[in-house]
Amino acid sequence: MTTHMTHASGIETQAAGDVRLTTLLLARYGATAPNLDVWNETLKTVLGHRSVRHYRPDPLPEGTIELLVAAGQSAASSSNLQAWSVIAVEDSNRKARLAALAGEQAQITQAPLFLVWLVDLHRLETIGRLEDSPSEGLQYLESFLLGAVDATLAAQNAVIALESLGLGAVYIGAIRNNPEKVARELALPPHVFPLFGLTVGYPDPTIRTAVKPRLSQEAVLFRETYALSEITETTAFNDYNLRLKHFQTKQHMPQRNWTETVARRLHDAASLHGRDHLAAALRDMGFGLK
Ligand SMILES: Cc1cc2nc3c(=O)[nH]c(=O)nc-3n(C[C@H](O)[C@H](O)[C@H](O)COP(=O)(O)O)c2cc1C
Repeated sequence: MTTHMTHASGIETQAAGDVRLTTLLLARYGATAPNLDVWNETLKTVLGHRSVRHYRPDPLPEGTIELLVAAGQSAASSSNLQAWSVIAVEDSNRKARLAALAGEQAQITQAPLFLVWLVDLHRLETIGRLEDSPSEGLQYLESFLLGAVDATLAAQNAVIALESLGLGAVYIGAIRNNPEKVARELALPPHVFPLFGLTVGYPDPTIRTAVKPRLSQEAVLFRETYALSEITETTAFNDYNLRLKHFQTKQHMPQRNWTETVARRLHDAASLHGRDHLAAALRDMGFGLK
C-alpha cells in the first residue's frame, strides 16, 4: 500500500516504502536523473511505463474495452472534432491476418485484444453532407494531422488507463507497412487511415519487463529557444548508448548502440518497410494532403 506525505502546497511527495520515484527516474535517466520528489499514483503509472510484448492468455474483464474507449474519449481533441475511431479486434483469425500484415509480430496473436487506432475523417465528411457544406477543409494535410494527433492522444490515454489496472500494451506501428491491406481487412471506408495498433492483455509474469532508459533531459528540454551544442548532443548520445546497452544486457537483448539503431532505421527507403509509400497510400485512401 502506497503512502504519501502532502506538502502545505497540496503537492504529494513520496514517503519511505513507496514504489520509489527515484528508482523509476534512475531507470529512465541513470546518473542524469533530475532530482524530484513530487509523487502520486498517476505519476507512478506514467513514469513506470514499459511496453509489454508477452501476455497471459486470460481474457480481459467485461467492460475493459468500453473503459479504455472512455479513457480515450476523455483526452483533449482539436476543436472537439473527435477525428478518430478505434476498432477492437478479438477474433483470432483476424488477429493472425493483421499480424501477417505487420511483420508477423507474435504479440498481436497472443494478446486477447488488438486495438486499431484510426484517423477518421469519414464521419466529418458525413456531417458536411448532412449540413450541406463542402467540407473542403478535409482535403488539407492539416486535417490528417489533426486526426493523427487526436487518435494518438486518445490511445495514450487508454494506455495510461490500462497500465493503471495492471494490464500491459505495446503499440504496433507496423500496420502502416501495409495500410491498404489493413484497411481492406477492417472494411475501412475512404478517409479512414489505420494509424497504429495496440496489443492489450495481462503481462506474462514469467517474462520480466523493465523501464527503458531515455535520452537525458538536456538533449530534449530547451528553455525559451532551441539551443543545443554539438558537445552536449554528443555527450548525451554517448551516455545514452551506454545506458541502453546496460538495459539490453539486463533484458538479455542483443547489445546495440541507439545511434546505430537510429541510423539503420532511417538509412534509406527500404528501411521503412513499405512505409515509404505512405503519401501515395493516403491519397488512394481519399486524403488530399494539400
Ligand atoms: C507509434 C508507435 C509504434 C510502435 N510500433 C511498434 C511495433 O510495431 N512493434 C513493437 O514491438 N514495438 C513498437 N513500438 C514500441 C516501441 O518500440 C517502444 O515504445 C520503445 O522501444 C520504448 O520502449 P518502452 O515503450 O518500453 O519504453 C511502437 C511505439 C510507438 C509509440
